[in-house]
Amino acid sequence: MYVNSLNVLSIYFSVFIFVVGNKMIFSMKKFFLLSACCAALLMSCNGECSKDSTVCKEPDKSQIVYENIMTRRSVRKYHSQPVERSKMDTIVKCGINAPNGMALQSYEVRIVDDSDFINGITEIYKRNNPEAAQKAGFKNPFSNAPTVVFIANDKNYDLSQVDCGLLGGNMILSAWSMGIGSCCLGGIVRFMNENEEAAAYLNKLGFSEGYELLYAIGFGYPDEKPAAKPRRTDKVKYID
Ligand SMILES: Cc1cc2nc3c(=O)[nH]c(=O)nc-3n(C[C@H](O)[C@H](O)[C@H](O)COP(=O)(O)O)c2cc1C
Repeated sequence: MYVNSLNVLSIYFSVFIFVVGNKMIFSMKKFFLLSACCAALLMSCNGECSKDSTVCKEPDKSQIVYENIMTRRSVRKYHSQPVERSKMDTIVKCGINAPNGMALQSYEVRIVDDSDFINGITEIYKRNNPEAAQKAGFKNPFSNAPTVVFIANDKNYDLSQVDCGLLGGNMILSAWSMGIGSCCLGGIVRFMNENEEAAAYLNKLGFSEGYELLYAIGFGYPDEKPAAKPRRTDKVKYID
């Protein structure tokens, strides 16, 4: 069991409140004795401890990051509530802290959790793709997500699409670490860029001159646990 300093402090104060609550005379001597015990416990938390101890070392950060990456999957079935804006703020903050070419931050990001907006595009999409809309579980063409992030690239910077991809990668992984699923979306963006009826919604996103909608990412609380798709390790080679 991992016990950090906060756990120890909360145990300490619980004991303190219990003692005072029971109207015991809490002498300075007892106070210092309790302090010494807690200090010893805190010191034992500092770094290594034996495997079978109840007070263990802090979890390995690299293992946490690895697990987060390896367990992430694209989600296409969600609970209906949009992701809280406070959580989206954190997710986007992680996104814009991704590496970016020449520190240009050559992207623009729009977050939509307005059901009128999503339903409006969905209706246009359904009219144009009746067969796709009839698939079981279809709610909207954003992989059924209740919150959608639209990402535009700067057409005047040749590596802008890399910036946009890294931004999205950070958002997807930070979301996953918070229990929030996501799915990258290329198909609906192609539709929005080409369909005349969808132009009104594209305009609503208000991207600056010189920026073009590149892709979107749907976010929401997962209502499925998709299996991992196999990855081709033969695509990767060391050059000796
Ligand atoms: C650029 C890009 C575009 C994508 N477009 C779509 C899409 O339009 N619809 C969709 O359902 N999934 C889309 N995906 C998700 C991929 O299908 C998914 O990442 C891939 O199958 C691997 O599965 P995983 O993410 O669960 O590992 C897209 C992913 C990327 C990176």
